[in-house]
Amino acid sequence: MRSVLASVAALALSSSVLAFPTSSPLLKREHESGGNDTAEYGDGPIVDFQSLPAELPPLRYEYNALEPHISEAIMRFHHDFHHSSFVNNTNALTTNMTRAIEEGDLAQVVRLTNPIQLNVAGHINHAMFWHTLSPNPANHSGGYGGVYDESSTLGQQITENFGSIERLKGIMEAMGAAVPGSGWVWLIWDRQNQALDVITTANQLNPAATEVPIIGIDVWEHAYYLDYYNRRPAYLRAIWNVINWNEANKRFTAEASGNSWW
Ligand SMILES: [Fe+2]
Repeated sequence: MRSVLASVAALALSSSVLAFPTSSPLLKREHESGGNDTAEYGDGPIVDFQSLPAELPPLRYEYNALEPHISEAIMRFHHDFHHSSFVNNTNALTTNMTRAIEEGDLAQVVRLTNPIQLNVAGHINHAMFWHTLSPNPANHSGGYGGVYDESSTLGQQITENFGSIERLKGIMEAMGAAVPGSGWVWLIWDRQNQALDVITTANQLNPAATEVPIIGIDVWEHAYYLDYYNRRPAYLRAIWNVINWNEANKRFTAEASGNSWW
């Protein structure tokens, strides 16, 4: 039992010892296929994280496509290193959990619960995050990032619940900057109250019960430190330039039409 626990602990810590992937197979595949530097930005299914074994979803844009707001270096570390660790840990931990359930080892089930929460939600949160972002069309043709449509279904709801997009941005920036340590700031749809709202979560917790995530912004230091150092507010101000409102509207309209993706 102790050795299994030790392996779980090692998995939880593995993100601190993995080497930086200087020649990612994923990157190689994208470049061999010509990359996604045309009008394909933002296209694709809302959900691509619901199966096991978990897989690292590819970016729908080049690693440098979010510059100057988010650098290529951050995207490489964040996607290929941090997210990849969550994916690998998800597969190992869920395998261990299946075994524990089959063996009726309830103590082991309890021990695995927190690491599974961290790593599975870490995988899901990041899978959503990559598609929450898109290149700004001012820098890359075909990008959706930063293009907000006040008349969209989501735009109308934002006006109704927050008064304006600028007020929503201000709320998310302030709440995101105030997250102690690591976490996320979310624009969510509150099913109980039938309204949009802004919440924050610690570590990799995500809106899971009655709240539907529309936009989640990662405020872990790994998401911004290489570019912004300790200036998290500057990162939160800049990220609006690459927020994929087209994708956010797709998530919201799916929920509003009764075909929730969450
Ligand atoms: Fe992250």
